[in-house]
Amino acid sequence: MKIKSVNLETVCGITSVLPENDKVEIAFAGRSNVGKSSLINALMNRKAYARTSSQPGKTQTINFYNINETLYFVDLPGYGFAKVSKDTVAKWGKMIDNYLENSKVLRLVFLLVDIRHKPNANDIQMYDWCIEYGFNPIIIATKEDKVKRSQKAKLIKEIKQTLNVVDGTPVIPFSSLTKSGRDEIMEYIDMVYEG
Ligand code: GTP
Ligand code: MG
Repeated sequence: MKIKSVNLETVCGITSVLPENDKVEIAFAGRSNVGKSSLINALMNRKAYARTSSQPGKTQTINFYNINETLYFVDLPGYGFAKVSKDTVAKWGKMIDNYLENSKVLRLVFLLVDIRHKPNANDIQMYDWCIEYGFNPIIIATKEDKVKRSQKAKLIKEIKQTLNVVDGTPVIPFSSLTKSGRDEIMEYIDMVYEG
């Protein structure tokens, strides 16, 4: 798919009603600061259309990016962000859960984990939620520029084991700095979009 146009069409906060879109949605989930917004920018070939930050907790809403007027990239709020109250965490959790449960056009979920860290309890819960709602998330191991080539296979194996992924689940190493992994991610998007 060639990206011709991008438009941040809908921003949903905790109290917003989710949009009833009639085009396919592809969602990006993962811990705060893992690189969701950076990945979305890389896919859209934009430097900073989706707002990113070195401070965790940048994206606190569900953002729907209309791509080519044919599909949506959905940037989900990052979980596991320590600096917000328990109450807010619970509300975000509900918001993500509610989205996964109720979107009628969500076709694919990418779950992002940092290649350097073993997935934690929140990552496992997110993966399990996805499975519960009938999605088989594709895992993206972000910030792969930060690890040595020789370490990668071991780290990827550890991610698969910790999340206890369904057999055959792809784990794609990605770097928003070098864009490595972008093409492979795009292939999965193309499959959903064309199919
Ligand atoms: P929230 O919106 O808080 O949930 O975070 P996010 O998952 O959207 O992360 P974001 O894209 O804002 O990136 C967080 C920080 O990590 C920023 O400082 C990015 O520049 C950095 N970052 C993201 N991806 C990569 C990567 O592939 N490599 C490196 N080295 N840094 C990255
Ligand atoms: Mg973000």
